[in-house]
Amino acid sequence: MKFRILILSTLLSGSAWASNYAWIPSPPFRELEAKLTRLQADEVMHKATIAAGKRAAFFCANCHGETGVSTLERVPNLAGQNPLYLLTQIDKFGDGRRQDEFMGGLVKVLKPEERFNIAVFYASQPVPPTPARDARLAETGAKLYARACVGCHGAKAQGSREVARLAGQRIGYVTTALKNYRGATGVRADPRMTGVAKKLSDQDINALAMYLASLP
Ligand code: HEC
Ligand code: HEC
Repeated sequence: MKFRILILSTLLSGSAWASNYAWIPSPPFRELEAKLTRLQADEVMHKATIAAGKRAAFFCANCHGETGVSTLERVPNLAGQNPLYLLTQIDKFGDGRRQDEFMGGLVKVLKPEERFNIAVFYASQPVPPTPARDARLAETGAKLYARACVGCHGAKAQGSREVARLAGQRIGYVTTALKNYRGATGVRADPRMTGVAKKLSDQDINALAMYLASLP
């Protein structure tokens, strides 16, 4: 793996879900992280980068929406997503670690600077939650989330650095993503997600997706 060294150590702690991962960022990842930190301290540059990202993302808008709020159930919202997570995913599509018939080809034509600007643009946009249609199912999802996901994705499902934000994500997309990890077909693989996804039933996945979409 180019961008990370992953050390997995399972904790012997009663809960079948519990595992502890120490993640060591690679030098290119740290460089991007430092670049983002500098950008966030410079309001003028930040605004200019957002504007450049919006221009570079004109084609992406066809599927992901003008501001990264998708209207297609299988297409993820990019709005509000963590920028380093977005950059990692763009790299994964580019080198085949993640597979999608559209995305693989599309990202190959993006220069590193365009990738960076696009990620900063989407990250700066608000994402609206989708109210749960089935409150009981969402409640089941909330309980499962607190047990199995909160350690990495955070109390409010905002993620961090290269961990995905899940709050406000589309139901259809979250369902597909979890099934892709669970299926271990290579369409999408990440050791941190594959282990946890293997334990989820279809009902668990539906409950989690409804709960997560409803979060602001
Ligand atoms: C033809 C429709 C289409 C276009 C155009 C498109 N995308 Fe996508 N994008 C998708 C789909 C579908 C997925 C989800 C693939 C999957 O299920 O893994 C996706 C996923 C992504 C993801 C992963 C998000 C996540 O939460 O993991 C990123 C990042 C992304 N696209 C960026 C872009 C960028 C940048 C552009 C413009 C250069 C773009 N996309 C253009 C359809 C599209
Ligand atoms: C050990 C840490 C860890 C745990 C526990 C974990 N996740 Fe994740 N999750 C990640 C990481 C890291 C990614 C990004 C992986 C990648 O690059 O594909 C991710 C990605 C995802 C994605 C894809 C998001 C997107 O935008 O494409 C979904 C959906 C998801 N996780 C849901 C869950 C749910 C639901 C649970 C609990 C059942 C959970 N995760 C538990 C670390 C974790």
